[in-house]
Amino acid sequence: MYCTKKITNDLTWVGANDRRLAMFEGVYSVPGGVSYNSYLLMDEKTVLFDTVEKAVQRRFLENVASALGDRQLDFLVIQHMEPDHSAAIEDILVRYPNVKLVCNAKTLTFINQFTGLNIDAHIVKENDTLNTGRHTFHFVMAPMVHWPEVMVTYDSTDKILFSADAFGTFGALNGALFADEVDFNKDYMDEARRYYSNIVGKYGNQVQALLKKAGALDIKMICPLHGFVWRENLSSLISKYVLWSVYQPEENGVMIAYASVYGNTENAAEILACRLREKGIKTVMFDVSVTPASEIIAAAFRWSFLVFASTTYNAGIFISMEALLDDLVAHNIQNRTVAVIENGSWAATSGGLIREKLGKCKNINFIEQTVSIKSSVNKAQLSELKVMADAIENSFPNTTKKDEGNKSDRTASVDTNAMFKLSYGLFVLTAKDGTKDNGCIINTATQITASPLRISIAVNKANFTHAMIIKTGEFNLSVLAESAPFSIFEQFGFHSGFNTDKFAGYGNNERTVNGIRYVSEFANSIISAKVSESYDYGSHTVFMADVTQSFVLSNEPSLTYQYYFNNIKPKPQPPQEGKKGFVCKICGYVFEGNSLPDDFICPLCKHGSADFEMQ
Ligand code: FEO
Repeated sequence: MYCTKKITNDLTWVGANDRRLAMFEGVYSVPGGVSYNSYLLMDEKTVLFDTVEKAVQRRFLENVASALGDRQLDFLVIQHMEPDHSAAIEDILVRYPNVKLVCNAKTLTFINQFTGLNIDAHIVKENDTLNTGRHTFHFVMAPMVHWPEVMVTYDSTDKILFSADAFGTFGALNGALFADEVDFNKDYMDEARRYYSNIVGKYGNQVQALLKKAGALDIKMICPLHGFVWRENLSSLISKYVLWSVYQPEENGVMIAYASVYGNTENAAEILACRLREKGIKTVMFDVSVTPASEIIAAAFRWSFLVFASTTYNAGIFISMEALLDDLVAHNIQNRTVAVIENGSWAATSGGLIREKLGKCKNINFIEQTVSIKSSVNKAQLSELKVMADAIENSFPNTTKKDEGNKSDRTASVDTNAMFKLSYGLFVLTAKDGTKDNGCIINTATQITASPLRISIAVNKANFTHAMIIKTGEFNLSVLAESAPFSIFEQFGFHSGFNTDKFAGYGNNERTVNGIRYVSEFANSIISAKVSESYDYGSHTVFMADVTQSFVLSNEPSLTYQYYFNNIKPKPQPPQEGKKGFVCKICGYVFEGNSLPDDFICPLCKHGSADFEMQ
């Protein structure tokens, strides 16, 4: 039975999913399956964009027949001749004998090579157009993204880019069709990266050329041949393509790939990873004999620093490591710093050979010293691994460099009072878990980007609201206005939602579309958001979140931290005569005593002793 999905009034997805495929292209495991996308447009003329792989041909043909109804198919546009998208061409031609093939000259050559037929087609070139009634399609050549005949098609009527292999991802669609229906960053970005790096990673220049052409178009939606259709936050994937295509890493961190026969090379890699983590450097590790190469190649595209550790085998590099390195070189990896660990019980050669292979890639900088192990790590090599970790740390552009010579001067130069000069707003942050509502006061909310509309907040982990957001991934911000009284801060701050009901006695029960309460009194606007990423910063978690709803309540000025201090926060009472006191600079709580314990925590606002000053 047909299984189609509507995209717009006149565009329908008629593709199919395959979850039985073991190896895509015979090389890449696809544990989450793969989708083969085909799109049918119903205008005055009907147009089918590409077909599918033969394994899902039956479902596809049912889908096309169902979506066409009693109409005939007028055009079949072939953008890419790789058989995972072209296997059903002959069936379409047989079923719809009046259909006209539309493709470029190179594609027609490939069609006839693959089918052995001598098919006629309407040949298009760069910037040629096809009008089908309401819609006008513009053909844009995209050679080597991923084969030489590839072209993409832009619908200037509905501003849709049919992007062929570009912007695709591994993974079956599982009932969804649009990227905004799933948590793409969390659940699919790794697969999008693996798809990109392995399928078109070699062709960065050609992807750049396509991005440049696409940049000149007003694109509202992207319809790729694999994976989800993009109708929101297009820039989140496009920005990744920009980085990937110029071989720039996404994140500072170290990918360690090792090949170990009896665990000693692995031991060296583990020790290095531990030393790096102690420096606060992110690490990922792969045993190249276990992890599919496609995953390691994707990781190499993600991380800034690569470490390869290999035992020597048959006087060369261990087999699985050698295959991985050849694959990486073939995929054109560039712009990375690399460190090498070798092992050899009698004649270690793997380190030099690894350097030789990767030395063929552009802009690869090696950490000078190879750590060379004889059979197993000894004390001297333990020190060498520490030195390697130091060298890796020093190669990071943005890490805090340890400079023992002037460390104390730098420490002395940090005056935390400078932080109070930053301009902060004040917000009631609310969340909901089941039937439980909660809220707290925060002062760190910032708009990060306009498109997509994204904000960040930093939340103390001690807050119950933090636990709720970690669990549910959603929150509301009520932006407080200058009229906010101190009672709002008493209501939502100064005590914990773990053991009190923050909304007790709070009159109204207003909620946004996400079901979360908000504070309308004394707030000038409300923002609902859904977490896309979170970062652990010790005492706090920083949440990046996409705005899902927002509205303005009044034009009253937003409350700043400074205004709160000057006008709202009660002035601290002087300590009783003869007694010393320390006042919390955050909430005004007064600790009476001659000295303040270093580990003292303000019982009201939970700030530490660093935020107290002597009265
Ligand atoms: Fe999915 Fe290059 O084909």
